[in-house]
Amino acid sequence: MRNFDEDNITQAVLDSLSGCAIPRTRQISEALVRHLHAFVKEIEPTEAEWAGAIAFLTRTGQMCSDTRQEFILLSDTLGVSMLVDAINHRFEEDTTQTTVLGPFYVEQAQDFPIGSPISRESDGPALLVEGKVEDSRGNPIVGALIETWHADDRGFYDVQRDAGKSALDMRARFHTDQEGRFWYRSVVPAAYPIPNDGPVGAMLDAQGRHPFRPAHVHFKLSAPGFETIVTHVFIDGDPYLDSDVVFGVKDALITKLAKTDGQVSPGGHEVASDTSLLTYRFVLPDKPRN
Ligand code: BEZ
Ligand code: FE
Repeated sequence: MRNFDEDNITQAVLDSLSGCAIPRTRQISEALVRHLHAFVKEIEPTEAEWAGAIAFLTRTGQMCSDTRQEFILLSDTLGVSMLVDAINHRFEEDTTQTTVLGPFYVEQAQDFPIGSPISRESDGPALLVEGKVEDSRGNPIVGALIETWHADDRGFYDVQRDAGKSALDMRARFHTDQEGRFWYRSVVPAAYPIPNDGPVGAMLDAQGRHPFRPAHVHFKLSAPGFETIVTHVFIDGDPYLDSDVVFGVKDALITKLAKTDGQVSPGGHEVASDTSLLTYRFVLPDKPRN
């Protein structure tokens, strides 16, 4: 193996993989080499540009910590996270659409009784969330685990707030009742920029893109016998719905906030007149039988 040039180096690297004993590793390695070489041949980088690309990836790794995952942000903002999500969730159309998990999910959120207020630190506009969880035949799913989290009315998650405020806020775990329902009180979330003080923010700037996500509430829904669904419900009317920086918006996940005209919500809960109501019906796909 010698004398490599633009015309023969790709095949030489592919040939070097012929001893790979793990079929999936070989398939992935071959595809990586083919696509990476095609990319370099298409852009024909200068040596300074290639050094810049390596410095960018180095900075991306250096930005990562226990609380910051810059590589996931890179994957999100290049649409790769949503592509992986789409490939892995080819469910029936009438089940709830999925979208990215995002970096603000916390596994150890607190369990709350249905109906609890989950925002302690924010005095933003009042929100009542009423959800129903069903299977694809319209039967309620009883005891489904609902994990929910969202930003406040200024666009900040609890984990982004200054020290001194409650550690966890605007996030909770509930279990659906005998009718597959859950509900809780919180504050109306605002649109927000993804963390953009690192290399991904610099990339967005260079690409002439804004860093915003439209206002949304996150949900992770799971129940025995059903596929787990990770999704958001987006608030209709948000100016960023058509330019979400992570490409996460789907029509079926957008809902209009209803203004309550007083006393009782459609789900039968007491509300003040200035409360916004977010209702959504979630449909979990059956787990395939083996
Ligand atoms: C989020 O919605 O929390 C999020 C998703 C992807 C990147 C940044 C934030
Ligand atoms: Fe979010």
